[in-house]
Formats: sequence, C-alpha cells, structure tokens
Amino acid sequence: MDSNEHRIKIAVQKNGRLTEHSLDLLERCGLKFTQSKDQLFCYGENMPIDLLLVRDDDIPGLVHDDVCDLGIVGLNVVQEKRLALEHAGDEALYKQVFEVDFGHCRLSIAAPDGAEYSGPEDLNNKRIATSYVNLLRDYLKKNSVQAEIVFFSGAVEIAPKLGKADYICDLVSTGGTLKANALREVGTVLQSEAIIIQTLKPLAASKQALVDKILQRLDGVLQVRESKYIMLNAPRDALEKICALLPGSEAPTVVPLEGSSDRVAVHAVCRENVFWETLENLKSAGATSLLVMPIEKMLA
Ligand code: PRP
Ligand code: ZN
Repeated sequence: MDSNEHRIKIAVQKNGRLTEHSLDLLERCGLKFTQSKDQLFCYGENMPIDLLLVRDDDIPGLVHDDVCDLGIVGLNVVQEKRLALEHAGDEALYKQVFEVDFGHCRLSIAAPDGAEYSGPEDLNNKRIATSYVNLLRDYLKKNSVQAEIVFFSGAVEIAPKLGKADYICDLVSTGGTLKANALREVGTVLQSEAIIIQTLKPLAASKQALVDKILQRLDGVLQVRESKYIMLNAPRDALEKICALLPGSEAPTVVPLEGSSDRVAVHAVCRENVFWETLENLKSAGATSLLVMPIEKMLA
C-alpha cells in the first residue's frame, strides 16, 4: 500500500525566500520528513507524503506534468507558466487552492534612476529586460504598448547597466535589489504571494483522500494563524454590544454564571488578531475578566 504510486508528492522551493516558510507550514500540519543526502528529496516519515525540493520556476511544470500532486510556489511563477502554456496552445493542468500568506512581492517595472517615466506609454519602442516574458507581454498588450522584451534568465537588474535594456520588469520584495542597482519601481504588473497549487488530474481514491486530508490541515493551520480564543464575563443586557465588538467571530458561546442571573460568560473564536484597543472597548461596554488565548489547532 505504501508503494510509490500511493505516496503524495509536494513540490517546494529548494533554496529561496519561500523555502523556510513552506517547510514550517508543512511541519505545522503534523508532517515529519527525513531529508535525502543530496537534500533534494524529503521522505515523509509519519504519512505517505514526500517533498521534492526544486527551483521555484520548475514547480508549476512539475504539477502540470503530474510529477507532483501539490506545489507551494509564488503566484508570479504560476501565472507565468500558465501564460506560457496558453501561448503554446496548451492549458495549465493545475488549480490554485489557497493563498498561504507569505512570500508577498510584486512583479514591477523599474526604471534607472534619472530616467523619465510617467506611465506605461513611456515604454513604447523601448527594451525591457525580464525573466517573466509572458506576464510582461500580457501587461504591454493590455496597455497597448509596443516594446521589445529582452529575456534574462537571472540578474535582470544589471541589464540597463550593461546597455541591454532601458527598463526592467522583475520581482520586488523589500526593494533592496532595485536600490542597490540604482533602479526605481515605476509600475506594478502583478501582486504576488505564495500559493498552493493542486493537479487537475483525477487521483486514485486513496490518494485523493490523502490530498483532501492535507489540504484540510493546511486550511486549519492558515485559519488559526491570526485567530484567538477570547473569554470574558459580561452583563446580560450588554451582550449584543459586546458580541458586535468581537473581531471576526461567529456565534459566540454564552454560558450562565453560577450564582448570577444578570451576568454571563462569553467564549468566542476571533478569526482576526485581538488588539488592546478591542479589549479596552469591550471593558468599556461592561466586560470583565477578559482573557485572550492563541489557538494552536482548529478543525472545522
Ligand atoms: C527576486 C528578484 C530580485 C530580488 C528582489 O529574485 O529577481 O533579485 O528577488 O528582492 P528584494 O526587493 O527583496 O531585493 P528571487 O529571490 O525571487 O530569485 P529567483 O528569481 O532566482 O527565484
Ligand atoms: Zn525563481
């Protein structure tokens, strides 16, 4: 039963900004791995779920080609591959299942310091260096711009200095790389963050059940990240006001307090962080004995 075709494979970035967050996320789903000597494969110890550690740019392709069942990768890479497949008359065989709230960045147009730029029309008849040929082509088309796209597989930011391009289109996270290369961000092509993609290929029932289980755990981990459990006592007649103040909570549990007919205990899961200001407002509304606790796991 534990043969290779019954094991799930998840593609994860080998070495980059998503790696640590991705592995941490999977560990918090209760998965344990042993890493191979070459560090490119992680064998699932406690569940038949293995990881393939690869270049991020290869992740959508591995899911499309059905080598992996799931992948954790930037939306930028996913959309670039989708457009590349469409451009070749093909169709992406994966779908997005979750945003995972890390790896936030944007694909941007950047101009050398000093170069004028007042809008996409300034890109007309210019050369733009990028690794994201398809996303850039799409952006230029939408903005009715005719420009030459110069493909760089890496180190895009040095293209203007080399005289190979007038502008670049590359990922910006902190902005440090642009700054170090005397470039400034002038327009956004795509807002991106890490997402989970899943193969569209029908899976054997046993495998599908495992994919569903891991997706449910991922959903739980992502949901509790900001969630808090809040407990407080409140006058019964202030209940409506107090419940309205609880951030992102549905149907709090109201419990009578022994020996008191006019006060109740309120327990609620708040799906947003609970700030001091909220607690102060709750107190002003009559709440006492306020307690806010982190939630470790949640299964809906
Ligand atoms: C991107 C981009 C820049 C850098 C920008 O590369 O190509 O080099 O990040 O980040 P910053 O704004 O924080 O300086 P990435 O790390 O995604 O590497 P890759 O393209 O090789 O996957
Ligand atoms: Zn990459």
